[in-house]
Order: sequence, then C-alpha cells, then structure tokens
Amino acid sequence: MSHFFNTGLSQQQFLEQYWQKKPLLIRQAFPDFESPISPEELAGLACEPEIESRLIEERGQDGTAWQVSCGPLSADVFARLPETHWTMLVQDVDKHLPELQYLLDPFRFIPDWRRDDLMVSYAPEFGTVGPHTDGYDVFLLQAMGTRRWQIGDQPITQPKLIEGLELQILAEFTPDQTWDLQPGDILYLPPHFAHHGVALNDGMTFSVGFRAPTRVDMLDAVINSMLEQVLGKKRYHDPDLSLNSHSAEIDTHAMARIKQMLHQAIDEAEPVLATALGKFVTDTKPSLSALAAETSTELPSIDELSTYFKAGGVLHRSLYYRFAWTSNERSGKLFMAGEAYSVDIQGENLLPLLAEQLILTQTDWQRLIKNASVAQVLCQLVAEGGWYRQDH
Ligand code: SIN
Ligand code: CO
Repeated sequence: MSHFFNTGLSQQQFLEQYWQKKPLLIRQAFPDFESPISPEELAGLACEPEIESRLIEERGQDGTAWQVSCGPLSADVFARLPETHWTMLVQDVDKHLPELQYLLDPFRFIPDWRRDDLMVSYAPEFGTVGPHTDGYDVFLLQAMGTRRWQIGDQPITQPKLIEGLELQILAEFTPDQTWDLQPGDILYLPPHFAHHGVALNDGMTFSVGFRAPTRVDMLDAVINSMLEQVLGKKRYHDPDLSLNSHSAEIDTHAMARIKQMLHQAIDEAEPVLATALGKFVTDTKPSLSALAAETSTELPSIDELSTYFKAGGVLHRSLYYRFAWTSNERSGKLFMAGEAYSVDIQGENLLPLLAEQLILTQTDWQRLIKNASVAQVLCQLVAEGGWYRQDH
C-alpha cells in the first residue's frame, strides 16, 4: 500500500475520499521542510524574459486596486515595491529548475498528463492574490514563512466576481475554515473551492497545479485527428423525413438526427481517440517551446547512441516537453510535443522508460535496443530534444 504523505491514508484512499471532492489539510507533509530556493532566486527567474511570471499588487502604483503586471520583472520594479501587500508568482518552476523534480514525485500517482506545473509565489507580509476560485486541483505547499489560508467548504461553480479587475476576485467570501500553514504543510483544494491566502510574514508557497481539458478542447483534438484520418465524411441523411407545414423550420426531428449523427461520429472516431488525446495533452505550451527547442539536434543513429551509452553517457529527459504513452492489442504509441510515435507491440512494455524516467543509462539502453522500433523512436526523440545528451 502506498501512503499519501503522513495522512494515514493510502494513495487509493486519498483518490476515493478527497481527489476532486473535498479539501484536505496535511500538516508536515514534508517534515522540517526548507525551501530549496530563496526569494532572491525566485526574483531572478521572474526577471528572465522567457519565463512566465506576474506581480500582483493590492494597491497599484496609481492607486488602482489589484494591479497585475506580467513579467519579465526588473530591478526597477523591485526597487519601487512597498514593504507589504504584493505577490510575485512564477510558473513552470519545475521545468526551469530540474533539481526541484523531487517535490513532484509524491504526486506522480496522479497521471502526469493531468499535472500542469509547479508555480512558486513569494509574498511579504499581507501579500495575497485575493479570495478566488480556480478551475483546477491544486496542492498548496507552504515552503517558507506562515500563510493564513481561509477556505469555503463547498464548491462555487458560478462565482460572483468584483467587476472591472484584471484579476478574478470574489465579490463575496465568507470562509468556513481558517488554517495557518507552516513550512512543510500542504493544503489540497479541488476545483472551484474558494480560497484566500494571506502571508503573515515573508513567505513562499509552492502550488502543484493540475489541469483538465474542456469538452470543447477534447472535441477539437478529436476533430483534428478525424480530419487527418479522413473520418467522419458521412453526410446528414433523412430517409424518414416527414411533412412540415413550415418550410424554413429546422424541426425537432432534424435536431434529433443531428445529435445522433454527432454521437455516431465520436463512436466512429474510437480508433483515433487515444491518439487525439495523446497529441493534445503533450502539446508544448507556447511560452515553453523556444526553451524546449534548445536541446534539439541532428538525428543520431542507433550505433551512435550505442557508442555514447557504452562510453558511460546518459540521456536526460527534457522537462520542457510533455510525454505520454498508450497501447492496445496491436501496437503502442508514444506522444511527445503533440506528435505520436508508433512502436510495435513487443516494444510496448518499454514505453514507460521513454515517457516516465528522467534519465536513461547503458542498462536501460540494453533493454531498449532489444526492440528496433523503440530504439528508433528514441533516436527521433533525441533529434527533437526530448531526450538530450549531457554535453548540452
Ligand atoms: C499564491 O500562491 O499566492 C496563490 C496560489 C493560489 O491561490 O492558487
Ligand atoms: Co488559487
């Protein structure tokens, strides 16, 4: 049985009782936690042009409430900030700082493709982004200082927001629970639970956020795959057409036929559903694609990789790319950066090596080269930069 931190719950029990259902406070999930990064290092990341960051000031420079500035931030910005009442947030810190991967390990029992990123915020005393709801599940790990979290104990699906703000802040919020989080404490929140975190002193919060595609996103992905595979070409047909006294009406019979056809189109797309979803969930977000491309290289041959591994070289998996895999009784597919790579069915059990490990060694390579289709896919992934050699 795999434990879920020190909660006394197994991972399975957490999923059954809390995941997507109700909040959970976990005291000392990471005992004696010390932040692996400092506020200064975080500020450094926020000043990088290719890194997504934001600054939220409760009282803006010109007196406007809740001013949001998008990064890159600069030394001038930090110099003019007040002592209190602001928050700096940096996205995708898990990808920019690979040494922070260990923080995600305890969450990998939830599928990788559901995870979005590790966002890190720093706030001095009274810093907050205001009471709000998110559409995503989030684990809020207190990394430094104390933060007071107030939450609602029921989800709000249609929140009333303060009008005219760039930020989505609840117009009304009556908390049901108040907790002061210390370093190492985690607060898990399912989507749509109102929450309001205020820094009681200088502090940092690490948010492990999960994402969930909308129905329309998934339909769009399926339609793209249907177009590629030339599926769904059957036309609307109405051999049961009956008389209607109005010539311009789209009647309820027509609507019923259309609905049925759309359901049939999804059924017909069944063979491409996994490919559609795999490509969609591994798409590289635009803000990361330039960084992801940095490790791309010429297509290596299998012999070249063999020589490299034999000489003690290892491959590293690029954290800027997303990976997923799927298999059925005929073949296996690996997905990376919105592309699908096929392997034969004997190679299917090797896909977790390519999609889940962080490092590949000579021992792994010995297993991978047993299947030519898998070894060939790894060569292609190296060319794309999804796996890279140490010398990069
Ligand atoms: C924060 O870290 O300040 C905000 C995190 C959140 O509310 O999701
Ligand atoms: Co939030």
